[in-house]
Amino acid sequence: KGCKLVGCGSAVPNLLISNDDLSKIVDTNDEWISVRTGIRNRRILSQKDSLTALAVEAAKKALEMAKVDPEEVDLVLMCTSTPEDLFGSAPQIQKALGCKNNPLAYDITAACSGFVLGLVSAACHIRGGGFKNVLVIGADALSRYVDWTDRGSCILFGDAAGAVLVQGKEKDDACDSEEDGLFAFDLHSDGGGQRHLNAGMKEKETDHEIGTNGSLLGQLPKGSSYSCIQMNGKEVFRFAVRVVPQSIELALEKAGLTGSSIDWLLLHQANQRILDAVATRLQLPSERVISNLANYGNTSAASIPLALDEAVRSGKVKPGHTIATAGFGAGLTWGSAIIRW
Ligand code: ACO
Repeated sequence: KGCKLVGCGSAVPNLLISNDDLSKIVDTNDEWISVRTGIRNRRILSQKDSLTALAVEAAKKALEMAKVDPEEVDLVLMCTSTPEDLFGSAPQIQKALGCKNNPLAYDITAACSGFVLGLVSAACHIRGGGFKNVLVIGADALSRYVDWTDRGSCILFGDAAGAVLVQGKEKDDACDSEEDGLFAFDLHSDGGGQRHLNAGMKEKETDHEIGTNGSLLGQLPKGSSYSCIQMNGKEVFRFAVRVVPQSIELALEKAGLTGSSIDWLLLHQANQRILDAVATRLQLPSERVISNLANYGNTSAASIPLALDEAVRSGKVKPGHTIATAGFGAGLTWGSAIIRW
């Protein structure tokens, strides 16, 4: 079976925070942020807004573009590290969309690599599991885990949701190998680098008032939550510019392609300097690099489908175009996929 990318959509929160706004809460300025990162604005979910609702909005737009009824969706993959329910939010998205035809829905947690993993998982489910219409959603609200007093990290992140509908096709009818939507991929992780980027659980508190010291109740956790994002920016930067070109080159080789046959380079939008460094390594001119960092910052698992959606709707990415895409981030995780729109 082949698979095709047949629709995309995205949604961002209304609240816009500029670099100047941030300079009122931490010691920073527009020039430093834009020169070092390329970021000028980001959208942030306010306290009362829901990330799940944003994901539903993006998914609806992808279904509309694909002209596919929600009832035809048989798998929803929600790629997120910031679910609004610890047990996962994909089933709630499935319900809100009205996917009723015995669908499966689950979450994938892989930080900023989540969407690439979701795309590859969709293709595997189609090829090996007989699924037909798979919604891959990337959505994150890292602003909820940002330390707003840490100028080294709080300037980077924004919130968003993006979605792509991947459809199974019989090879002999609508999809021969020339048209297949996913040529090749390359995925990795390295838990050894977790110290450079993480948001671990806060130290468990125990309730010593209820249990006497040493009693069973005294030893039980009281409940938990996560710490703010801890990041060593320099190490993450070095990691990204080292592994991403390698991964894309491997995926291109598997696909029997070279850098010059790519129409677009669409990387996880983390930092303009990372995008530029990877493009230089792959000898791709800047005109072939998709970037919307200036408007949204790093939106984690949402950044690739958000940028893809904008590029498709503006007519930049056209049917038949080949795109090298790569995600990288916490875990550490990274991976690339060579896709065709
Ligand atoms: N405004 C002004 N000055 C700042 C700011 C700021 N916002 N942040 C740091 N500085 C200062 C530092 O204190 C330092 O000052 P000093 O020289 O007096 O000590 C100086 O600027 C340089 O700081 P560096 O941290 O060395 O700056 P760098 O050039 O490395 O840029 C950045 C920092 C932008 C964070 C960069 O390292 C980066 O983008 N790294 C990648 C991060 C990333 O992509 N993370 C997300 C991964 S995705 C995921 O999975 C969540």
